[in-house]
Parts: sequence; C-alpha cells; structure tokens
Amino acid sequence: MIKALTALQPTNFFHIGNWFGAIEPAVALQRDHKLSMFIVDYHAITVPQKPEELRKNILFAAATYLAAGIDPKTTTLFQQSAVSEHTELAWVLNCIAKVGELERMTQFKDKAKGKGESVSMGLFGYPVLMAADILLYDTEVVPVGEDQKQHVELARDLAIRFNRDFGETFVVPVPKIREVGARIMGLDDPMKKMSKSAPSAKNYISLMDDADTVVKKIKGAVTDSGSEIRGGNDRPAFSNLLAIYSLITHRSVEAIETEYIGKQYSDFKGDLAEVLNLWLAPLQAKIKTFVEHENDLKAILNEGAQRAREQAQRRMKQVRERIGVAL
Ligand code: TYM
Repeated sequence: MIKALTALQPTNFFHIGNWFGAIEPAVALQRDHKLSMFIVDYHAITVPQKPEELRKNILFAAATYLAAGIDPKTTTLFQQSAVSEHTELAWVLNCIAKVGELERMTQFKDKAKGKGESVSMGLFGYPVLMAADILLYDTEVVPVGEDQKQHVELARDLAIRFNRDFGETFVVPVPKIREVGARIMGLDDPMKKMSKSAPSAKNYISLMDDADTVVKKIKGAVTDSGSEIRGGNDRPAFSNLLAIYSLITHRSVEAIETEYIGKQYSDFKGDLAEVLNLWLAPLQAKIKTFVEHENDLKAILNEGAQRAREQAQRRMKQVRERIGVAL
C-alpha cells in the first residue's frame, strides 16, 4: 500500500482551512493508503506556548482526528515528541540543509517579518524538522494545503541530497494538494490565506465556533463589488465563499452559482452559515465526546507512538550507519 503521512500543529484550534486542506483529504486516503497522522507539538513550540494550553491542545487535536474519522487501528496516530527520532533525524538533516534554502521559505519570511534577529532558531529550522517527520517513515505522499508545498519540496531536496551523499536511504515524497480547498482564504481578506495567527478572529471559522459566531462571521465576510453571486479570478471573495459552500455540500460551484442567479448576497450568506452550522454541530459533539475521555486518548496516542517508534528506530539506525557514527 502507498504510504501517506500528514500532521498538524496543536495550536488553539483547527479552522476550516486545516480541515479542507489536510484533515479531510487524509481521512479519505485511509481507504487505500497506509496513513500516519500525527500531532506536531515540537513544531508548535517554535512560537511561545503556554504549557497547560499546549497539553490541552494536543489532546484536542487527537480528539479532532478521531472525530474526523481517523481509525487508530489502521492509521498510526501519535504525538511527534513521543518519538525522539524526529528531532534526532532533524539534527542530521540540519547538517546538510543550507541556510540559503531555509531563508527562502516563504512561511519563515512571513512569520519572521519585523522580528529581526530575535526570531527563534526553531522557527528557522522548522522545515527541517518537518522533512525529518516525512522521511523517517518512507512516506510517498503528503496530503497538505498549498502553503506547505514548499516545505514538502525541501523534504524532497534533502532526501535526494542525502541519498546522493550517503547512499540510497530515503524515499522521495510528493505533496498531494487538492484542487479546491487547498487554500481557503481569510473571510476578512480574500487575498490572504485563512490563518490561526490572523490578527482578527473574523478571518476564520474555527471548527469549534458556535452557531451565532458562524452567522456573524459569514455575515461580516468581505464580498466583491457588484451584485452577482459568482466566482472567478476577478472575484476572490466569492470564489472563496463558493468553494467553502461546495466543499461542505459536495455540490459543484457551477450548480451553486446557478441556484443563486438573481438572489441577494444576504440570501447566499444566510444559507452558507446554515450549511456550515449543520455540518459543524455533529462534528463538535463528536470532538467533545472524545475530549471527555482523556485516558482513552492518551492510550491511543501511546499505542500509535509505539508503532511509529519501531519504524523510526529502524530508519534512524540505518542513518547512523550511513553517516559513519555507528561503530
Ligand atoms: P499547520 O498546522 O500550519 O496546518 C495544518 C494543515 O492545514 C493546512 N492549511 C490550510 N489548507 C487550506 N487552506 C488554508 N487556509 C490552510 N491553512 C492551513 C496546511 O497546509 C497543513 O496541511 N508544518 C506543518 C505541519 C507539519 C507537517 C509535517 C505536515 C509538520 N510536519 C509533515 C505534513 C507532513 C504545519 O505547520 O501545518
């Protein structure tokens, strides 16, 4: 079976961009792929986190994966920090990665903007840790949102470089990016991606937003000028809102556009908020139930970590031999 792998940072909450860009596609891959899906807590600490909140967010992330349909019997579900080979391989890869290629990472440039030299080494080296995450498990495909494509390409480059210098060791992974949904845009600014770190909560719909909040956020979403409910290159706001509608209802954008010919923006927004809430309510109930069973979550994560560790240790042993530190 083809090996797939993806991971999300356990910071605050997940938004619908995370869902459509990564969670939903990963769940779908379970049918015919061997999936590893984990929680990258060591990526989360590249920016300051409150320990007690981080702990809760890790459990919340696990609960969300399970509520989404991740089956821990077939999928390896675990916490990154529980498998120390991730940071060990990251160190080895740090020694073949170039400062120049890391400086070119657009996410780093965005996150480091205005911070000068006070930006953490962790944030700078973050894509190398992600490469280690991917390469440890012979990953062939990496389902991610568009913003992670450059990082997966770095993982490819590092795999090719290592194989060239030390002999065939790593599988070279490919990113798997869906056509619609790989880049959900901010509700308050359709030119920028929906983001947890946006200055305003009006930017995103969190998976845990209550029904009133969803209605308010959708009502307040920026629209394009004119009066037609239509997407297209010149209509970024409606392209985004229509994509969200289409992803939830599994109807084509064209069919939705046709249905709303002659209708008002307020009709469309009211319906979009309604479909979002109908979809979110059962998902939120499932997440809450999993969160309430903390010990079960921990047991699932431990079991997953054990399985992951076996594979990671095997690969890391080989890496130590290849680079000449194994005596
Ligand atoms: P993170 O936690 O920022 O995001 C998790 C996933 O959500 C996707 N995503 C989006 N998709 C569509 N529209 C959006 N607006 C949007 N915002 C986020 C991201 O592309 C990602 O797939 N470095 C990664 C986590 C990571 C990882 C890995 C991923 C660490 N190791 C190994 C894959 C494989 C990150 O910070 O994602």
